[in-house]
Amino acid sequence: MLKQKSLAKLLPLTVAAAGFFATAAVADVAPSDVVIVDDNEIPQALTDTAGDAAKGRELAVNRKKGNCLACHVMPIDEHGFHGEVGPSLWGVGGNYSAAELRLRVVNYKVLNEDVIMPAFYVNSNKMHRVLKKFEDKTLLSAQEVEDIVAYLQTLTEEQPD
Ligand code: HEC
Repeated sequence: MLKQKSLAKLLPLTVAAAGFFATAAVADVAPSDVVIVDDNEIPQALTDTAGDAAKGRELAVNRKKGNCLACHVMPIDEHGFHGEVGPSLWGVGGNYSAAELRLRVVNYKVLNEDVIMPAFYVNSNKMHRVLKKFEDKTLLSAQEVEDIVAYLQTLTEEQPD
């Protein structure tokens, strides 16, 4: 009797633990689990896969993804229009660490509440009241953020005059 009771208590725990370990190894850091340090940086990568700078460059240009060119001058020649709403991104790889760049892409609003730059990795339900099905959606995936951060790190050259 006693044995059965304790087994029943144990079972849900075991199941929960198994579920946790099964996903923890491969899962991305969820937007709500991102740890911001000193209101300035996110030291922990959002995925286990290192960012791919070439993909990051594509994402930065892509209007449906980062669309960074809409607001930033960048060392990218083949796209005519570069916005100037934000500062030039020439040299940001030298001026900021990966952790600092990650925070700026994930959620610049931590630094400046009124910034026009979108928060690319926060749950959309934190920004607006949205339909249930959009609750867990972010503008970029965790891997896309890592790719863009990897690309930004390559921007070490200052803009020529
Ligand atoms: C709608 C306009 C807009 C878009 C789109 C945008 N940004 Fe920004 N970004 C800004 C503004 C404005 C600032 C400056 C905010 C401030 O000074 O407080 C900024 C600041 C930054 C900074 C800090 C630069 C510095 O020198 O301190 C980085 C890095 C950055 N953005 C990266 C990106 C990347 C990467 C993308 C695309 C994934 C992007 N931004 C998309 C408007 C934008």
